[in-house]
Amino acid sequence: MDLYAVVGNPVKHSLSPEIHQAFAAETGERLRYDKLFAPVDGFAAAADEFFAHGGRGLNVTLPFKGEACRWVTQAQPAAARCGAVNTIALEGGKTLGFNTDGIGLVRDLEAQAVRITGRSLLLIGAGGAVSGILDALVEADPAAVLIANRTFAKAEALAERHGAMVSASSLEGLDGRFDLIINGTSVGVSDISADPDGEAGLISPRLAAGAQCYDLFYSRDGQTPFCRWAKRAGAAWVSDGLGMLVEQAAAAFAIWRGRAPSTRDLLRSLRSGTAA
Ligand code: ATR
Repeated sequence: MDLYAVVGNPVKHSLSPEIHQAFAAETGERLRYDKLFAPVDGFAAAADEFFAHGGRGLNVTLPFKGEACRWVTQAQPAAARCGAVNTIALEGGKTLGFNTDGIGLVRDLEAQAVRITGRSLLLIGAGGAVSGILDALVEADPAAVLIANRTFAKAEALAERHGAMVSASSLEGLDGRFDLIINGTSVGVSDISADPDGEAGLISPRLAAGAQCYDLFYSRDGQTPFCRWAKRAGAAWVSDGLGMLVEQAAAAFAIWRGRAPSTRDLLRSLRSGTAA
């Protein structure tokens, strides 16, 4: 049976095995999908061993996406541009690196009837998560994209990859009117226990009032700290990133197996906790 896995640190709570096993059941593909924990300095050793023992493909999650991009034999142009790989496929003895996060986000927004084209976007954060989705968002032709980050220089460096459509700001003094606000900071992950209700907020609630707000992070019930904060701020629409997780997984599955699984029923069952 073909072997796949998600490698990360932590990886215990990953939903990827559940998602890929559901895709396999739906498409009739025979595969096994495991969780692979690697020490923070142990990605290369874990990946080497996985492929040496017959592994066919890996998903890569935090904090290894950048390292995975350097580790693969060849990164596809889109993954190389953002310097992050979330999907590795073994083909002809070579490890090929892809990034399906951007397409995953765009497909989830489409499925939820959220338009990108012609709209004004605010991306909060300038780390690997935002770098991974930026190109796909720009390709969808928004009117403007502003990247706001605590460390301005990182936002500026990302914005420089693109033309005048993308600009940069620090978090302080951030102002403007935005149709769609996307949280790509790691605050939702790391500060969940410190700030369970998302009281603190990264930006002024005034900016979220009336806007559509999307969190790249997820929780089964959709109630991430950022989502709760955005609702309280009067956002017109709020979503966590569970749909993006399922869509990026579907894109990875299509790369590995040449079959595009369906996603929305699975997403509903993940939400209600009834998926396999
Ligand atoms: P990832 O690969 O998940 O994006 P990362 O590269 O460490 O992780 O980036 C984390 C992002 O969250 C960064 O934009 C970071 O801001 P800095 O670039 O200034 O470090 C942002 N972030 C993390 N904790 C934050 C906090 N308490 N307030 C504001 N931004 C924060």
